[in-house]
Amino acid sequence: MIGNKHILLGVSGGIAAYKACALTSRLTQLGADVKVVMTDNAQKFVSPLTFQALSRNPVYTDTFDEKDPAKIAHIDLADWADITLLAPATANIIGKIANGIADDMLSTILLATQSQVYLAPAMNVHMYAHPAVMKNMQQLESWGYHFIEPGDGYLACGYVGKGRLEEPESIIAAMEEHQENQAALNGKKVLISAGPTREGVDPVRFFTNRSTGKMGFALAEAANRMGAEVTLVTGPVNLSLSDRGIKRIDVVSAEEMHDAMHDHFAANDIVIKAAAVADYRPKHVYGEKMKKHQGDWCVEMERTTDILQTLAERKTHQFLVGFAAETENPVDYGIHKLKKKGLDAVVINNVSADGAGFGSDTNMVTYVNRMEKKEDVALAAKRDIAERVLTFILRDMRDGEK
Ligand code: CTP
Repeated sequence: MIGNKHILLGVSGGIAAYKACALTSRLTQLGADVKVVMTDNAQKFVSPLTFQALSRNPVYTDTFDEKDPAKIAHIDLADWADITLLAPATANIIGKIANGIADDMLSTILLATQSQVYLAPAMNVHMYAHPAVMKNMQQLESWGYHFIEPGDGYLACGYVGKGRLEEPESIIAAMEEHQENQAALNGKKVLISAGPTREGVDPVRFFTNRSTGKMGFALAEAANRMGAEVTLVTGPVNLSLSDRGIKRIDVVSAEEMHDAMHDHFAANDIVIKAAAVADYRPKHVYGEKMKKHQGDWCVEMERTTDILQTLAERKTHQFLVGFAAETENPVDYGIHKLKKKGLDAVVINNVSADGAGFGSDTNMVTYVNRMEKKEDVALAAKRDIAERVLTFILRDMRDGEK
């Protein structure tokens, strides 16, 4: 996976820069074409000549050192890279990218590149735990940068703790695994529903719920990153997709969502119903705005169709996944839904837990398959939860084929 790639290795100024030499050597031996970009401070630890000899390519250090008048070096390199790897990534370079600062060759390339970016941080244990560094890393993660976490151990500053640059072999293994994962849904078609539905009662009022669509959107984007052809059916949300490759269908009511999901169901291989669909809608929808009057107003509600259940009835080859948003006994209720609706898996969400559920950028879930095998996914960004859920789905699809 890595062997045939163009890898741009960014080396920033930390003592762990010496490990980037072994990394360059290993990547080159694997057959990758490696070009190294160094910051000024990195050059205080290791000479560019070392990287030039190991990579057999020129080393780039200065934005204004334009060797070929036909090209703008930093843009050319940014476009050339299939993968950009920053190792070691210091607190400083992480802060620069997170804040859009481009004041040297490496930071400028990082703003210009469209390639997948991996960061392997290395710094003092207290620096790594500083809220500013944490916030910058979270920002980058939310933009799709992928971190290879530092290891625990003896640090050059004398401390023992988290902040040691991961060993070159582990960095390569983490990138390989991530790359493999990214191609895991190649050739698969994935249909996802997201967000709330709105059930109108008159031209100005409707019933809805607290869903923001973030989990469903995260799933759509993760499936797309993993190579799937994705269709996203969404209720009214304030979200936009970062990837234009996803087919988005906007709907408003449960009925519209029902029709859109059924229209696309047959053509898809994996169907995930992350939407919070209204279970009831007003029985009578007024054509004109209801005026207030003395006393109470009772709105009679009727059941909507259970979309998931009707999809389950039509299931042929599809792997069908439901969501269960619960506030008590989440796993028991979730498994009950899995059985009752005839699903292949359910993602159970305790919406009353801190950091989980509606509107949050993070979540924690339990994934349960038909065999009632449970996987707890601890609190993490919805983006990461989405990747984990899709990985479980793939595993269960493969197991089911055996
Ligand atoms: N769902 C659906 N159509 C509905 C209601 C729900 O497709 N009309 C789907 C949701 O998208 C979700 C799953 O069913 O994937 C669970 O929804 P939930 O409302 O929690 O489950 P219910 O079976 O309605 O159970 P209850 O309201 O008793 O919790």
